[in-house]
Amino acid sequence: MRTDKCMEVVNADQDVISPVSRVSYYPLVIKRGHGAIIEDADGNEYIDLLSSAAALNTGHAHPKVVEAITEQVKDFIHYTPCYMYHEPLVKLADKLVQVTPGDFRKRVAFGLSGSDANDGMIKLARAYTGRSKIISFIQAYHGSTYGAISLSAISLNMRRKIGPLLPDIYHIPYPDCYRCVFGQKCSTCSMECIKQLEIAFKYYIPAEEVAAIIMEPIAGDAGLIIPPQKYMDKLYSICKENGILFVSEEVQQGFGRTGKWFGIEHFGIVPDAVIMGKSIASGMPLSAIVAREDIMQAWEAPAHMFTMAGNTVSCRAGIATMDIIEDENLLKHTRELGEHVINRFNRMKERYELIGDVRGTGLSIGVDLVKDRHTKEKASEAAAKICYRCWEKGVILTFFASSVLRVQPPLVITREEMDKAMDIIEEAINEYLAGDIPDEVLKVAKGW
Ligand SMILES: Cc1ncc(COP(=O)(O)O)c(C=O)c1O
Repeated sequence: MRTDKCMEVVNADQDVISPVSRVSYYPLVIKRGHGAIIEDADGNEYIDLLSSAAALNTGHAHPKVVEAITEQVKDFIHYTPCYMYHEPLVKLADKLVQVTPGDFRKRVAFGLSGSDANDGMIKLARAYTGRSKIISFIQAYHGSTYGAISLSAISLNMRRKIGPLLPDIYHIPYPDCYRCVFGQKCSTCSMECIKQLEIAFKYYIPAEEVAAIIMEPIAGDAGLIIPPQKYMDKLYSICKENGILFVSEEVQQGFGRTGKWFGIEHFGIVPDAVIMGKSIASGMPLSAIVAREDIMQAWEAPAHMFTMAGNTVSCRAGIATMDIIEDENLLKHTRELGEHVINRFNRMKERYELIGDVRGTGLSIGVDLVKDRHTKEKASEAAAKICYRCWEKGVILTFFASSVLRVQPPLVITREEMDKAMDIIEEAINEYLAGDIPDEVLKVAKGW
């Protein structure tokens, strides 16, 4: 495997780029990508199981996205919707409104990143309800603008030194049935996690002051944790009883990732608002909040206005993205292939004690590695080494939550590509267990 050109770029990067915005895995310099295949600067090829952090559900350089972008660039690149109008903005908004759950009138507010959409949601919820408090979840990642960091509770590093953060944001435990923080098993579960909210409402958070609960329907960066249906039903009913907005944060799980347009649809819950980003425009910067019309009327310009929001080229890419998901039947493909992938990982789990849990929906799959199945202690080094070895063997695999292999390939990936990637993951697991992956790689494969 040649790495000269990649190393040249990585070394130059280390001289000039701030360390604040990179989590290190391995020195991969992207040169080109098509579908689920990436080529690096030295000509090595990889099967991509990361999709640029779930931002490329339609795959790399999908011809229809490229065509839409190229056509638009030739006419005009952007004119700010803050002052003027453009058609792709309205067309995309129409399409978004149609696929967002809820049989009611909705409106769209565009931004540029998942982070700003989270900030926008805080503002919108406060404006609509006249209440200031927002509830989100421990271990959640919602982004890096001030509001999004305030909602997040996944890493001390992202909160250290930069405070004060936004006031009146509270965090409750995410319902994690594999690593229940209350030490319960499914058979004995009495939903201690929802009781935490009830306790909060009894002693220190007046429910009538809470504007919104912002929740990922599958907690992505927390390690792809899927909440139980009974929790979701109870949480939703608590929101409704107390006039609290229920917001589904779909930046990572949206646009077909779970085999439905949005993750929340798996629970049969209709949220008051949905936060969107990442795959919405196949890699072009764009985000959106889609909410009930009456909610959206509550704030006024320029409370959430960015010159580049709703960028014309991004909107064209967004329209193409949605067409591709529909025309290529990607939701069905994702459900079917996802089932196959989960079955294969579950079979691996029977062979390797290292695999503690396999969980996921569609092509949003986490493989949780443990040192001991009983204690469930996270096997962080194993995750780092296996990901590094996969890269050496031609698979882009990362881990999050210290120990969870993140399997989120472009939804256009074929079964053959996916099988090949899983063969390589299994080889890497065997090489790890045989002690063939040196400790040195841990200096590079840090992950988070
Ligand atoms: C669930 C979730 N919300 C928000 C964000 C932030 O999005 P962005 O990086 O586009 O600002 C991310 C990014 O990883 C995410 O996974």
